[in-house]
Parts: sequence; C-alpha cells; structure tokens
Amino acid sequence: MKLSKILLFSIVIVGLTTSCEKAYVLPEPVKPIDPSQPVVLTSFATEIQPIFTSNSCTDCHDGSQAPDLTAGNSYAALVSAFVTAGAPSSSILYTTLAGPGGAMYDMGQQISASELAAIKKWIEEGALNN
Ligand code: HEC
Repeated sequence: MKLSKILLFSIVIVGLTTSCEKAYVLPEPVKPIDPSQPVVLTSFATEIQPIFTSNSCTDCHDGSQAPDLTAGNSYAALVSAFVTAGAPSSSILYTTLAGPGGAMYDMGQQISASELAAIKKWIEEGALNN
C-alpha cells in the first residue's frame, strides 16, 4: 500500500513537471498600419488627365480620333472600351503606351516611366472616375 502511494506520488510529480513544456508558436505579428503613410489612390482628374494634355495626346485625340482624350470626355471614352478596370495588361490605353508593339509607342507618342506607372496604378485601383 505504501509503496503504491509513493509510486502514484512519483508519477504525479513527474507528470506535473514535464507536461507543461509546451512550445508555443507565436503568430507572425501583423504589420501595423502606418498612419503617416496613408493609402493614396491615383486621381483620374488630377493625375491621369494631365498626362494626356501635357503630352499633346489631345492634339490628335480631340474627338476626331478615338479615344477622345479631352478633359470631360476622356473617362467615358476610355472606360471600358480602352481600359479594363483592374487589368492593365488587358487595357489598350496601357498596352499602346507600354512599349514596342503598342501603336502609340511605335508612333513616338511615348510618355515617361512615372506617367506610365501612374496609368498602371490607376487601372489596378479599378480605373475610378475620381
Ligand atoms: C499624331 C497624332 C496622335 C497623337 C499625338 C497621339 N495619338 Fe493615339 N492614336 C493616333 C492614331 C492615328 C491612332 C490609331 C492607330 C491605330 O489604330 O493603329 C491612335 C490610337 C490610340 C489608341 C488606341 C490604340 C489601339 O490600338 O486601338 C489609344 C489608347 C491612344 N491612341 C492613346 C494616345 C495617348 C495616350 C497619346 C498621348 C501620349 C496619344 N494617343 C497620342 C494618333 C495620335
């Protein structure tokens, strides 16, 4: 009887001292949102339309040549005939400017890398009329 109590006590002690050694895997910390870096959507009116105007696209695309890129008419002319919201590679506006093989690029109507990036970002963000 006494021996079995000692045995039972030993088992309990061993159990208590070894069973709590669990390795906890902590989840990856969620990257905190940096309030100093707000998500800024590309604006069609203040960033995209000026690309058409400053690069003289509107000299030809003035209503006589599709798409009409003049302010006030360009959005309706582009979306969705020349722009597929969310998909730059399926958007003629982007592919025609993005490099060799694009009609406007090949005609020498080339825009800067940052202008092209702005058009790409605007399309990726859903081609908003903002
Ligand atoms: C010198 C006149 C001229 C200028 C300037 C010009 N384009 Fe064009 N654009 C054309 C002509 C002509 C076509 C038709 C080409 C074709 O169908 O191959 C065209 C076609 C396009 C198309 C449709 C492409 C297609 O494959 O259907 C888009 C989009 C376009 N232009 C955008 C622009 C943008 C943006 C600019 C300014 C960076 C610009 N164009 C500047 C004459 C011009």
